[in-house]
Amino acid sequence: MIFDRNEKKDVIALLGAGSMGTAIVRKIAAGKKILLGDISEANLEKTARDFRYCGYDAETCVVDATKKESVEAFAEKAASLGDVKYFIDTAGASPNQASPEHIVNLDMLGTGYAVDAFGKVMAAGGAGLIISSQAGYMYPFPYEAEQEILSAPTEELMNVSIVKEVALQNSGLAYMIAKHVNHLQAMKAAATSWKARRARINTISPGVIVTPLAYDEFAANGDGYQEMIDASAAGRTGTSDEIAEAAAFLLGGHAGFITGTDLLIDGGVIPAIRTGVYQLRG
Ligand SMILES: NC(=O)c1ccc[n+]([C@@H]2O[C@H](COP(=O)([O-])OP(=O)(O)OC[C@H]3O[C@@H](n4cnc5c(N)ncnc54)[C@H](O)[C@@H]3O)[C@@H](O)[C@H]2O)c1
Repeated sequence: MIFDRNEKKDVIALLGAGSMGTAIVRKIAAGKKILLGDISEANLEKTARDFRYCGYDAETCVVDATKKESVEAFAEKAASLGDVKYFIDTAGASPNQASPEHIVNLDMLGTGYAVDAFGKVMAAGGAGLIISSQAGYMYPFPYEAEQEILSAPTEELMNVSIVKEVALQNSGLAYMIAKHVNHLQAMKAAATSWKARRARINTISPGVIVTPLAYDEFAANGDGYQEMIDASAAGRTGTSDEIAEAAAFLLGGHAGFITGTDLLIDGGVIPAIRTGVYQLRG
């Protein structure tokens, strides 16, 4: 059966086909071509089937976000399918899932490879979204360190002093720094490579969102997360669907004047920390 007679469809590329990523794509996918990229073939197969059973047009591509060539091949595959109007990057590992080296490689360098690669294929009027984290607000980043990051090409980010001297100390610091670097990566691309293609790019920094990744965090540091939830204005965890609502706005036409910025969606955790109402453990 032919479900859709339209031959030319805008392409949505999703890197990291996990909980938040698929919730975001589902919000915007009607009538579009979805390209799902993930390191796990089993996850790709299951996720693509779920999309197809809901009437969406989904293809898959195995991609390792920590490998530049793999990410570039993913971007080229997306471009071969049509106009790449949307790029969403949610590939990431959290502090209790991985070593500092892996977090820096995946959450920081991998995002850089993706922003660079899609900065060569985005269609005019397109929009990108990187899922960062509230953790990107937790380390007091000196102005000089931000400038050093903004002026370094992706390949040289490992040599930037804050990455060499602070991020590699432990997985928590690696995550905070990588996620703040994501804000700067989007800001820089918005002003340079993505600007040149007339495409926008932003980040969302979610707070505690219940997903399999978050369950790994709760298992390792349940008391710390409970305190954080209790100290927040919302007094609860968030859901991938709430992130997807905001993502759909940032990716859509109503956000045409928004680029190079971050939207913090944390139920009020960072306001509690910044005002001293709540002090982060250790
Ligand atoms: N869940 C939360 O509370 C929370 C809060 C803030 C930020 N985040 C961030 O949101 C993003 C999405 O997290 P989620 O909660 O949806 O988790 P998730 O585990 O459901 O999704 C992450 C996906 O990334 C994929 N992935 C892992 N390594 C990869 C690699 N090398 N190449 C390609 N794909 C890879 C995984 O297979 C998985 O499908 C992550 O970057 C995470 O750091 C999550």
